[in-house]
Amino acid sequence: MHHTAIILAAGKGKRMQSEIPKQYLELEGKPIIYYSLKVFEESFIDNIILVTSKEDISFCRKEIVEKFGFRKVTEIVAGGSQRYHSVYQGILAAGDTDYIYIHDGARPFVTARILKDAKEQVEKYGACAAGMPVKDTIKIVDSRDFAVNTPERSLVWQVQTPQAFSGKLVKEAYEKLFSEAENDAVTDDAMVVETMLKIPVKLFQASYENIKITTPEDLQIASVFLDKNSMYKKC
Ligand code: CTP
Ligand code: MG
Repeated sequence: MHHTAIILAAGKGKRMQSEIPKQYLELEGKPIIYYSLKVFEESFIDNIILVTSKEDISFCRKEIVEKFGFRKVTEIVAGGSQRYHSVYQGILAAGDTDYIYIHDGARPFVTARILKDAKEQVEKYGACAAGMPVKDTIKIVDSRDFAVNTPERSLVWQVQTPQAFSGKLVKEAYEKLFSEAENDAVTDDAMVVETMLKIPVKLFQASYENIKITTPEDLQIASVFLDKNSMYKKC
């Protein structure tokens, strides 16, 4: 069985408001993207497709893949304007493979345990996504921010990555998505599989530390996690 990872690093990081895309900002002297690449490199994953913007391909090759010796990165490909465009480029580059693990390059605290759980779940169900039950009560609001609905908290999860799928299935789902009208409301891969193929996606508990670096305060939170937990600090 062949396991391929797609690591996404083609976003511009608008909400971070930094000059350089957030995945290349440094945490303890290493770019944010380094941390997840390292975990995938040292796992059962057979190869990694790194998706970045066209302008950053040679930077990624020299300053990340070659510098840190990530031998499993077999391709660095250009992404697109929305996350789902970038995912699709990764899927095309992955070719025929049994399983595809899609991961946000801006999510440095993925662990070997989370990847192992993703493998177990995808082998069993064909489609799975990392997540955690929410801690806050969630409200659905109308266009004027009036609460219209309060889903039962125990049934609401925040969804993370990695999200893992049978290779054939996720390719089919994305092909269907692209054969239809563009849909900029697509924010994760499970959603594409759920809506295009009507296939249920199994959620599994990852960790509350598996955050996505999105806004400036997330960098402070990330430093606390790195300081506290030597597991994340690998040379
Ligand atoms: N991503 C990507 N291609 C895009 C948009 C996002 O590969 N066109 C990647 C990002 O690099 C990130 C992950 O998808 O690793 C999650 O996206 P998000 O946190 O939204 O990152 P950005 O789109 O860069 O940030 P923002 O939405 O604030 O602009
Ligand atoms: Mg985005």
